[in-house]
Amino acid sequence: MNAEGRGRLDQTPEWHALAKHRDELGEVHLRELFASDPGRAEKFSLSVGDLHLDYSKHLVTDETLRLLRELAASAGVAQLRDAMFRGERINTTEDRAVLHTALRAPESADVEVDGENVVPAVHAVLRKMQVFSDRVRSGDWKGHTGKPIKNVVNIGIGGSDLGPAMAYEALRAYTARDLTFRFVSNVDGADLHEALHDLDAEETLFIVASKTFTTIETITNATSARNWLLTELRAGEEAVAKHFVALSTNEEKVAAFGIDTANMFEFWDWVGGRYSFDSAIGLSLMIAIGPDRFREMLAGFHLVDEHFRTAPPEENAPLLLGLLGIWYGNFHDAQSHAVLPYSHYLSKFAAYLQQLDMESNGKSVDREGRPVSWQTGPVVWGTPGTNGQHAYYQLIHQGTKLIPADLLGFAKPVDDLQPGLVAQHDLLMANLFAQGQALAFGKTPEEVAAEGVPAELVPHKTFRGNHPTTTILASELSPSVLGQLIALYEHKVFVQGAVWNIDSFDQWGVELGKVLAKRVEPALTEGAEVPGLDASTAALVSRYRELRGR
Ligand code: F6P
Repeated sequence: MNAEGRGRLDQTPEWHALAKHRDELGEVHLRELFASDPGRAEKFSLSVGDLHLDYSKHLVTDETLRLLRELAASAGVAQLRDAMFRGERINTTEDRAVLHTALRAPESADVEVDGENVVPAVHAVLRKMQVFSDRVRSGDWKGHTGKPIKNVVNIGIGGSDLGPAMAYEALRAYTARDLTFRFVSNVDGADLHEALHDLDAEETLFIVASKTFTTIETITNATSARNWLLTELRAGEEAVAKHFVALSTNEEKVAAFGIDTANMFEFWDWVGGRYSFDSAIGLSLMIAIGPDRFREMLAGFHLVDEHFRTAPPEENAPLLLGLLGIWYGNFHDAQSHAVLPYSHYLSKFAAYLQQLDMESNGKSVDREGRPVSWQTGPVVWGTPGTNGQHAYYQLIHQGTKLIPADLLGFAKPVDDLQPGLVAQHDLLMANLFAQGQALAFGKTPEEVAAEGVPAELVPHKTFRGNHPTTTILASELSPSVLGQLIALYEHKVFVQGAVWNIDSFDQWGVELGKVLAKRVEPALTEGAEVPGLDASTAALVSRYRELRGR
């Protein structure tokens, strides 16, 4: 663990050694690194479960990786990891254990929080989810008027939305196509309106997903959904039980909302919101893909958990990815990290990772509360690769910023694609491989000139290259592979937080905006005086009221 007393991160010998090494490497080019080592691609690749990672297109040598591993060792990454897996309260500012890994542990495992094995409770909830999912999928669960459920609407935000929404898209090919799934998160009434406008209330099930069951967006949307249901059904409160279930840690608030706690699927305070989608928060996904596929996904998560826990540093994929991010963020001044999946099904993957990474590592004080003097979490962004190629790749290729990127791809298209569309898959993947190549090796002025390009255009058509990428390749985007991928990123984020000596498991930075929104709202609706409102916000509020005719 990051021991008090060891020097601050950027004062350690390991940090200084990396800074010196960075100076020595200078602007070494990937072209040179590949030319000087014919075995580089093989040497800088590794496999974890079904994932193949090629990290040879990074601006690193054996020495860089050795120094980065020394930094991790001196920062106590392995000790903090072991403390996490043991159920210690490593989320110190909230005094909580961090045990999303227990959500996918096999039933035989023993993971203790305060002396109690939590695994039996995890599996009891999974079984309850399974029974419920099977009933909905088979049509056995009936709405208030006796009709089977055809539509499932998940209402949640942040970790109670992004995980299931992303995974539903990712595993669309495995979903029950006769059911409709919608994910509502935004307090903008348009979100719920668009989700419900073509649904039949008699056949609609609402899943209210909220760890705390106090999140204003979710409770507001859930209340509106209940009103919609009762109006559409011309029914009283008794209809709620057949159309509303809750996913939460807060039984009291669920009951107060009017949802029968028999229809509540529980999880625990040691599951962080952004790490929660393989808990009860995944109920909508389980209904969509079925309990067996959901368990395959959990097994995929567990496989990477075990890899992270036991693999030696030289072969530890999350450790490696975390350290590569530190190399660019702390020693190359990279500000952002792009995630570029060559899979339409991963269209929400970067949005999911934004919360995972940026809510975890967007911190500027260390575990002891002292301001950090080193960069922490990057801006994470991205969209499916081919679309990005025709939008922002220009900046990655020829702009002035260093943007390390992950390129993700799958060898096989999904099973139920029409044969004509299957043929497009090679073109998709050719783009992935071509981009990795172009980003790394670019095109020299000599190569451009040799094509007969007029001299004045040569600088414009030159590609400097040297843009680092990790390529992650798997056979197919199955539930297990999705679980493996997410666990890989979860642990990468963990590694970085451990090195930076920050608490990756709290999120105090989201609080201020929530408090101020509550304070400002009466000014919008009733024109109430808000004490201490700054001049800019006061003027905006008054312009807003004018525009609303108030
Ligand atoms: O944005 C803050 C946050 O607390 C996230 O960490 C969390 O995932 C989200 O709000 C939703 O919280 P809840 O599940 O309690 O509604």
